Amino acid sequence: MNAAVRAVARAAMYNNIEVVGIERGYAGLLGEEFIKMDLRTVSNIIQNGGTVLYTARCLEFKEDAVQQTAVEICKKHHIDGLVVIGGDGSFRGAAKLSAKGVPCIGIPGTIDNDIAASDYTIGFDTAVNCVTEMIDKIRDTSRSHMRCSVVEVMGRRAGYIALQSGIASGATCILVPEVPMPYSDILKKIEDGKASGKSHFIIVVAEGVGGTQELTKKIEEDTGIVSRCTILGYVQRGGSPTVRDRVMASEMGAYSVELLKKGIGNRVVVYKDGNITDFDIQEALHMKKAFPMDLFATAGEISI
Ligand code: F6P
Repeated sequence: MNAAVRAVARAAMYNNIEVVGIERGYAGLLGEEFIKMDLRTVSNIIQNGGTVLYTARCLEFKEDAVQQTAVEICKKHHIDGLVVIGGDGSFRGAAKLSAKGVPCIGIPGTIDNDIAASDYTIGFDTAVNCVTEMIDKIRDTSRSHMRCSVVEVMGRRAGYIALQSGIASGATCILVPEVPMPYSDILKKIEDGKASGKSHFIIVVAEGVGGTQELTKKIEEDTGIVSRCTILGYVQRGGSPTVRDRVMASEMGAYSVELLKKGIGNRVVVYKDGNITDFDIQEALHMKKAFPMDLFATAGEISI
């Protein structure tokens, strides 16, 4: 997020466009929580996790009257364009503001990678690298004690974090909401692994699957292998961003300014088939993202 904020601010200033940062998203826009930005305001932030602009959920922004108030506030402060970093909810707000005369550009930012229009969302790579590092650490205990570690990772209703980190950490099973796996299959994988000499087991569960603690208990009861559950939580949303995230955010940020400079609004910047491009927000919101079934199948094959 900080890399994107920095890129937007710097690209705008490079083009002699004045920039204000809005704290706490739409909530801060309504509260007129603006900070005037100069070239140095965004210095020394690219390496930091979180966001210097803070963030907030703003459910009231769904209301037409509230959106109208936001438009008036933009007019009052001579805000001619807005870059919104977030997910589908933020983009819906951006589409409404664009329709009401404030051109907005959306940048996909979420660790979940669950925004359909874009193959990549800012934060994903940092999150999966963090999760993989954490599972590597968990494995040390799992291996030493010959245990089964069940690790729940984030992703809301999506399994992208689980799939990537599960492959990267050599998990025996990866459970994702997109591909329900019967409990009997999980047991079989553990029993088969045991029979072939596996001494310990890592099961990665996407939070959208649910029931991680119950699953851990059941595995211990049914296999006799001491099993422990770890819910990683916010650790995977923090830390210094990876190179991939910093570069992607920088590209998307600069691209969004290019669009606004041309007077274009109501677009979302995306990474698609290896390129940075943009889509109409409504079109983007109606897209569907296919879960990478081939990769999921490969994960199953190489985890025996
Ligand atoms: O969307 C990012 C995410 O971290 C999800 O993976 C998770 O379900 C959710 O946010 C948790 O958000 P909060 O704890 O702020 O409600």
